[in-house]
Amino acid sequence: MVKNFNQFVSATAPGKVILFGEHSVVYGYPAISMGISLLSKCNIWRIDSNKIVIELTDFNKHFEFKDLNQCLSELPNEFKQIKKGIELINNKMTEDIKNIKIELRSSILIGSGLGSSASTAVALIAAFSKFYELGMDNEKISQLAYEMEKIIHGTPSGIDNTTCTYGNLLYFQNKKYHIIDNLKDLEVLITYTGISHKTSIAIDQIRNLRKQFPDLTHKILNNMGEIAESAEQELKSGNLENLGYLMNINQGLLASLGISNHIIAEINDIALENGAFGSKLTGAGLGGCVISIGNDLENLSHILNEKGFKTFLVNINPHGVKINEWK
Ligand code: PMV
Repeated sequence: MVKNFNQFVSATAPGKVILFGEHSVVYGYPAISMGISLLSKCNIWRIDSNKIVIELTDFNKHFEFKDLNQCLSELPNEFKQIKKGIELINNKMTEDIKNIKIELRSSILIGSGLGSSASTAVALIAAFSKFYELGMDNEKISQLAYEMEKIIHGTPSGIDNTTCTYGNLLYFQNKKYHIIDNLKDLEVLITYTGISHKTSIAIDQIRNLRKQFPDLTHKILNNMGEIAESAEQELKSGNLENLGYLMNINQGLLASLGISNHIIAEINDIALENGAFGSKLTGAGLGGCVISIGNDLENLSHILNEKGFKTFLVNINPHGVKINEWK
């Protein structure tokens, strides 16, 4: 029986920042992340021809495949994560995917530690699930997005897909999370270093350090976990100054693992000299973005812009993944 599928579905998912505990979270220590007000979007349309059309707006790429086999064999390897997503969905179908146009776009900088890949993965899975009425809940959406993330990062902690699915402020450890809901709003200034990073390189660097200096590295990662625990208390009591101190300590520990650099340090210095309570790299490091908190982030944003840095002032995204449909 041919189901009467949706004609058009649109799903959005937030990007993320890791406030505390990047890298240590990979080894099972707690971390704190925040879904942000920058979004990725996946639109899926039913089209008249049998084709699969894929439009990757941010990459300025348009692909047309005559069927699923051609799509899976010819979609370039740089988009292997999307290929994986299509495969995962197709495995849940009784007939091969066809007659569709998929469009992916994002307002999140790629390779910048803001969760662009996880956020597009979540939006893609959510849009497909609704389009074909596969009935996936957020847990399932996050799980499949995690499978897509594995294609790129190998052994991700799961914090990115979880945050891009649920939004909010999350305390995350070993694939489990809870929402920290005492603080309804938190403004964070994101500053782009201008250097895109590869998460896998930074992860390998810390893995090697762990092999070379196991005890020392363990202590540093453990300290990061303790910082995340203290940060949860400060978030609950809304003490942003103390939260800032903890960010600075976390930054020091990340730098000691060799994943900071002089541009990250420069941005941190500018932030702290101009009234920020705290400033640190976010995500994998070695480039990407810096996050700062404080009372007058708009002013700090202007100062950083004048020095040539791109900034984004973001808030907590309380929704997580969202779906719109038109039958
Ligand atoms: O890929 P990024 O920059 O969003 O970093 C992800 C955070 C890490 O802790 C470095 C990796 C992980 O899987 O948690």
